[in-house]
Amino acid sequence: MLLKNCKIYLDKKIVEGEILIDDNTGKIKKIARIINNNNENIINIKNNLVIPGAIDCHVHFRWKSKKEGFKSGSLAAINGGICFAIDMPNDNPPITCKELFYKKLEDTKNLPINLFLNFGITENNYREYIEEAKVYKIFMVKSVGELYISNYDILKDIFLEPKLYCIHAEHRDVILENLKKYSYNSWESHTLIRNNKSEYLAVKEVLKNLSDNSKIHFCHISTEESLKEIEKFKDKHNISVEVCPHHLYLTKDMAEELKGFGKVNPPLRDDKDRKALIVGINRGIVDIIASDHAPHLLEEKLKDVKNCPSGIPGIETLLPLTFNLYNKKLISIDRVISLISINPAKRFNINNNIIENNIANLTIVDIKKEGKINSDLFESKAKFSPFDGLKVKGFPIYTIVKGKLYESYGLKI
Ligand code: DOR
Repeated sequence: MLLKNCKIYLDKKIVEGEILIDDNTGKIKKIARIINNNNENIINIKNNLVIPGAIDCHVHFRWKSKKEGFKSGSLAAINGGICFAIDMPNDNPPITCKELFYKKLEDTKNLPINLFLNFGITENNYREYIEEAKVYKIFMVKSVGELYISNYDILKDIFLEPKLYCIHAEHRDVILENLKKYSYNSWESHTLIRNNKSEYLAVKEVLKNLSDNSKIHFCHISTEESLKEIEKFKDKHNISVEVCPHHLYLTKDMAEELKGFGKVNPPLRDDKDRKALIVGINRGIVDIIASDHAPHLLEEKLKDVKNCPSGIPGIETLLPLTFNLYNKKLISIDRVISLISINPAKRFNINNNIIENNIANLTIVDIKKEGKINSDLFESKAKFSPFDGLKVKGFPIYTIVKGKLYESYGLKI
């Protein structure tokens, strides 16, 4: 396959060029300004942007669940321009033992995308080492079954292990205290129960327990306070920070209107938090953007606030919403590519480099394409979105994964 007329992101610069991919091995054979080759399979990229395969480092594909599963999850990734994803361990039952981990790993082997797994940490298993685990997940508040840490004193011991931990930071005690004050009687009440303080104090708890060798990735940071606190530690410690598009676009004053579609953990915040996250991206405190793709059944999301599960499907809106921030002049194109591609590759040791002899994993984006988010076009089983109808600019048009080309969302609108 020969990709003609590309604008390729190479060595931190966007350059004009062409890419020849070996149809048998899927490897990049040649990158040059112009390639003359009698390849029959010529794809005219029409001067669109070709970036190292986009990574969504936070997805809940829910192995074996009717809510999603690896098949529709992978198709959703491809539709959204994502070549690599890291799947979370809060399956039912949760992935907290080697046996389940390896069973699950087996099912990632023949997928069209590159899917990596995250191993779930409990108070009893944290000394286990799993070579194939990309990262280890700590929930500081109850997730599925025993997949959470309730005794925060143990964090010091956990962080002595030379592993990369990604943290869901919401403080259990703050949430329990708030549950005495508020009942689930409005959509806003969810945001009050899991308030800013609950994230901030959980973040502080993590930072307090770090050792010199600890490696921490904070998932879905959503508040100004947390970001400020993390910033104090970022120079001296090995810490990365992830944010999610829903916290960059939506705020808690929209909760009543969005109903179940806006119910997520951590919840929607104030506008000052939303703005602080954008500033955090531009100041380099935020390293990564991820979707926290959390599919649920539509009928569940239509339930009342107490019974509606938290989580928003997002793998197919991640790139459009991120490129739209560039088009709205809120972040530079370099930042966009760093957040979605360069930084997660470095952090999670994923090889998405555009170099000869590497397997081709490429995301091709029409950064000027305008259209509305339309969940009818999703490949995910969760065909709804709080962003439905939102006009955005910048869509993935092709995803090349493991050397194979697929059409993506941007070609369907
Ligand atoms: O809202 C959320 N949903 N937050 C999480 O951390 C988990 C996710 C899920 O699995 O549904």
